[in-house]
Amino acid sequence: MLLRQRTAEEPDLSELRDDSEVHPLGSIPLARVRDDLAVAERARRLLDELLLVCEREVQDAYSAQVPNLEGKVAIVTGAGRGIGREHALALAEAGANIVVNDLGAALSGEGHDDTPAQQVVQEIEAQDGEAVANGENVADFAGAERLVAQAIERFGRLDILVNNAGILRDRMIVNMTEAEWDSVIAVHLKGHFAPTRHAAAYWRERAKAGEEVRGRVINTSSPSGVFGNVGQSNYGAAKAGIAGFTLIVAQELQRYGVTVNCLAPNARTRMTEDTFDMGAPAEGFDPLDPSNMSPLVVALSADEAQGITGQVFHVWGGAINALQGWSPGELFASDEKWNADALLAELTERFPGGVAPTGMVAGMQAAGGQSLRAQ
Ligand SMILES: NC(=O)c1ccc[n+]([C@@H]2O[C@H](COP(=O)([O-])OP(=O)(O)OC[C@H]3O[C@@H](n4cnc5c(N)ncnc54)[C@H](O)[C@@H]3O)[C@@H](O)[C@H]2O)c1
Repeated sequence: MLLRQRTAEEPDLSELRDDSEVHPLGSIPLARVRDDLAVAERARRLLDELLLVCEREVQDAYSAQVPNLEGKVAIVTGAGRGIGREHALALAEAGANIVVNDLGAALSGEGHDDTPAQQVVQEIEAQDGEAVANGENVADFAGAERLVAQAIERFGRLDILVNNAGILRDRMIVNMTEAEWDSVIAVHLKGHFAPTRHAAAYWRERAKAGEEVRGRVINTSSPSGVFGNVGQSNYGAAKAGIAGFTLIVAQELQRYGVTVNCLAPNARTRMTEDTFDMGAPAEGFDPLDPSNMSPLVVALSADEAQGITGQVFHVWGGAINALQGWSPGELFASDEKWNADALLAELTERFPGGVAPTGMVAGMQAAGGQSLRAQ
């Protein structure tokens, strides 16, 4: 801008017609003045071009704030709605091709509808991304194998697996039915195992063939599983199992270049809207918008995150906490086998007021979040 203003004040070269004239300011021949001005004009044009290049570089630097996942292929399970949909959109925005898996089940896990997955595919395509729908049940071992195969057949590879699909069948333990227990354990725990198992076999094959694998598994636990929520012994047990599964599979797959991490999310979706009173604020940042869960998934998927594995992250709005689960606590050490009476005396002495879980809300608050109930 400044450069343009300066040139606007320069004399018009076309006025300098006669080489014999002298410049009114002194005895410099006009021909030389004209040459110098021509050189200055060329320099100005060059500087303008340089300025344009710099502007483009600055723009690129800002637009490159999303890690570049161009050329990568991701499967997101349960991506037809809620948190999974946001993960799929965010990964696509970062450049990945997406397999949008969703059974299209009711919250309790019943029924099948291909529409939610197809709609998310359309949303990604409308943003110039590439995606394909998949309606497999993640708890079906053969279905999970077909899901992984579809990613490889359609897009030629698989880099990222986000295990997110889930259902709820809450009940106090005294009344819980066998079906309520089995279905929730199946969708969450087996629904994490089955796709991971087939993706892991694929990555091991690639690594053994000499490829540099940068695989990603991103699992979904819950505050219910890591802190313990009343009325969710089936769901919480599955979600605690997913945290444990993350720790083990992270260690098993490290040698093949695959990282395995886990989210414990909090968001307003159909899963939580009936249970919790947590409307969106009239204006400003909405901590429970499900899209708040996805930057961590995109970040963990980046090549630069290759060293981060086996972590369980609690996410509440902008507060992301790398949880420390089951770290060593009070030690009752004896050089020989404990006598039960002596041990009881030691227990009651060390825990004079007794000891019990603090519950989910206290855990969430300690991790930087809040209760989802009305404050
Ligand atoms: N919303 C929260 O605050 C919260 C908190 C903790 C954990 N989570 C977990 O986050 C994940 C996503 O939950 P959400 O809140 O977005 O719920 P949601 O009900 O909106 O989405 C879950 C999706 O999973 C799909 N699904 C269910 N069973 C499936 C199966 N067997 N195979 C394939 N797809 C299946 C459903 O059709 C649905 O679209 C779940 O694992 C949930 O347990 C959510």
